[in-house]
Amino acid sequence: MKLYLYVTITVFLIACAPASVSVTAEKEGQTDQIEGDSAEVDSSESLEMECETAPYVTWDNWIKGALSAHCQGCHATTSLYRYGAPENVYFDEEEDALDWLERIDVRVLEQQTMPPAGGLLPEELVLFEIWVRCWN
Ligand code: HEC
Repeated sequence: MKLYLYVTITVFLIACAPASVSVTAEKEGQTDQIEGDSAEVDSSESLEMECETAPYVTWDNWIKGALSAHCQGCHATTSLYRYGAPENVYFDEEEDALDWLERIDVRVLEQQTMPPAGGLLPEELVLFEIWVRCWN
């Protein structure tokens, strides 16, 4: 009988745990909605919330290396063979990459057509996304 009670209580606790978490999340969302200027919580607003806790992805601590590994074979002024990549699309320095930020967003994140052969890990895509959306 004791065991039965124990199991019942445990099952009850497990069943309740996720429910209480989602209730808290909903409440937080509502608070933001009230505090925000606009009446609706749009995607950019929720992204800002994520950015607050996102890792600080910078040119120096990650992007430079990632572009070098995955893009500069074709997209650098020093590239020996560009595989048809346009002359004006190069990412030598941070400013060069920032000039192409919108297109990097589209090609790498939205369409995932750069690099042409793919190869970015899901984790790397997340870091690219954080850089594009949060730290620029
Ligand atoms: C194997 C060579 C190669 C690699 C590696 C490569 N690209 Fe490209 N890239 C191209 C070619 C070829 C084009 C022009 C044809 C096209 O737009 O699809 C291009 C065009 C682009 C453009 C401009 C076109 C537009 O849509 O505005 C951007 C931005 C771009 N690449 C970003 C990247 C990024 C960021 C990476 C790395 C994550 C990357 N590329 C890796 C070959 C490459």
